[in-house]
Amino acid sequence: MKSETIQPVKALSGGLELPGDKSISHRYAMLAALAGGTSELRNFAAARDCHSTLGCMKALGAAVKVQASTVQVTGHGLHGLKSSWRTLDAENSGTTIRLLSGILSGQSFTTKLTGDSSLQKRPMKRVITPLRDMGADIRGREGNFPPLEIRGAPLHAIHYQMPMASAQVKSAVLLAGLYAEGETSLTEPAATRDHTELALHEFGAPVRKSGRTLSIHGIAGENGNAALHPVSVDIPGDLSSAVFFIAAASLLPESNLYIANVGLNPTRAAILDFFKQMGAEVTVLNLQTKQGELVGDLAVKGASLKGGLISGDLVALLIDELPMLAALGPYTEQGIEIRDAAELRVKESDRVAALAQNLQRMGAKVEERPDGLLVQGRSAGPIHGAEIDPRGDHRIAMAFAVAGLAASGQTRILDSDCAGVSYPTFFAELGRLAE
Ligand code: S3P
Repeated sequence: MKSETIQPVKALSGGLELPGDKSISHRYAMLAALAGGTSELRNFAAARDCHSTLGCMKALGAAVKVQASTVQVTGHGLHGLKSSWRTLDAENSGTTIRLLSGILSGQSFTTKLTGDSSLQKRPMKRVITPLRDMGADIRGREGNFPPLEIRGAPLHAIHYQMPMASAQVKSAVLLAGLYAEGETSLTEPAATRDHTELALHEFGAPVRKSGRTLSIHGIAGENGNAALHPVSVDIPGDLSSAVFFIAAASLLPESNLYIANVGLNPTRAAILDFFKQMGAEVTVLNLQTKQGELVGDLAVKGASLKGGLISGDLVALLIDELPMLAALGPYTEQGIEIRDAAELRVKESDRVAALAQNLQRMGAKVEERPDGLLVQGRSAGPIHGAEIDPRGDHRIAMAFAVAGLAASGQTRILDSDCAGVSYPTFFAELGRLAE
């Protein structure tokens, strides 16, 4: 297995452009495969996860052409998917399996879906329950885990009161809603990323919003194959990937970093407010809207970080950034506390356990709790380099690579290739910008 060694550095300086947003790329790839015609998706994510989605859409009959970061997907309409003789492989990607479950529920065939050993441990009941209510027949191992077998059926609209704040569950129901007779609606307990709503709008299937309630009209009926139209879009850079560089530049006092063309959708950008609240020097420039998504550049300078508490509704808005924030904890004045985040235990790894174990290896003082952790700040003592086991989880690998930049001695990230799940060139870019 490949590993990467991180040496302490003084600053992170220069310019950076990020591969396309992972969440948006998944959604565009799926909807393009349901549109009537060829869509062009520029700056498509380099993330392995999004290429898992492309692989699944291809197996379901869409034509997919990848040329560097431009992807062309040709769909044959909402009823144009074909049954796949082989089991679809979502690999490490929860977004692929959960969102596709919604689409596959409305088909007239049966599909088997699985993933790698991490994905096979992740809960699927959260999508199985509402999709069954809509009329699909879905089986999973122990009723909850992949492999899944989805027997599509004529779906009917439901109103779903979501028991949890999850963009993946919301999206699965909205995508199934395209195929349902009548108006499907759902109410979220707290705001989550809204890329599915924005993407559906771009492809011609508007979602109505009233407070926390969203609704979509089934359009598969009379004119299903022309219902979604192809798009030509530029995908903004991935803010969740940018966060590792924002954190690194903030941590190292002499840094001066410019990150161009980052997605700043308000349902993702709470992390920037949190950084600012911690004392980070992050400036947003050139703000504009592209295909419904807010995009801008970020200038980041070194700063002294205060730390803080993440709990309640903020957890869903910062869910993918919690590993990075926790790994910054020992370098902050007051430390970092995360509460109400039991969900972190069922991500690509048990992130609470992975964070606690690796932070302790670096000499940090950490209290692990069922729903989060408390990481003590600077006064708890110095942080040293260590051997990091990311447990196959891309965000744990990248978070500790950043933490290693400000530790004494060197840090070794084992199985560093796992970063490719969201950001294949992460270590190369970090090496290029580090001084
Ligand atoms: C995602 C939603 C989040 C997030 C994941 C991507 C998405 O998951 O953690 O990395 O693209 O919809 P949940 O919706 O399950 O919280």
